[in-house]
Amino acid sequence: MSFIKHKFIFFSFIFVLNLLMVKGSWTPRYQVHINNNLPDGSNPLRLRCKSKDDDLGDKVRSVNEEFTFAFNEHVLGETLFFCHFYWNSKDKSFDVFNDTMADKCGLERKYGLNFYYGCYWKVQEDGFYFDSQLLPTPEAQYEKFYEW
Ligand SMILES: *[C@@H]1O[C@H](CO)[C@@H](O)[C@H](O)[C@H]1NC(C)=O
Repeated sequence: MSFIKHKFIFFSFIFVLNLLMVKGSWTPRYQVHINNNLPDGSNPLRLRCKSKDDDLGDKVRSVNEEFTFAFNEHVLGETLFFCHFYWNSKDKSFDVFNDTMADKCGLERKYGLNFYYGCYWKVQEDGFYFDSQLLPTPEAQYEKFYEW
């Protein structure tokens, strides 16, 4: 009797857990923005971003355009996206999102039971910058991460 009851509670719990995971609001959601801030009139920025499971493909962005992608963090964390950037004869590749950067992404709004965070990169002639402003305020706080 009580075994059946416990089993029922157990399966109800799994069912609700599945609903939350399918809805995707169980883990935080992140949107990565990569803005092309190269000088006006310069050649477009080419980039290709990948995670362990996804290849987002070759992208081309002209000056002042951005490339964005969004995802829910894995249940166990450890989500990682890296990008390879190409501009004129230069190229560079690094993690645009990992556990370290996740902590530097700014809170944007509530998302289901969780939160939505924005991670902002900008690409300039002199290198790659990340906005480490954590709160939803208008002023960005760009920190330089890499040279070309
Ligand atoms: C995560 O990414 C940042 C930015 O590319 C990098 O500085 C850092 O070393 C990476 N962290 C780990 C643990 O790889």
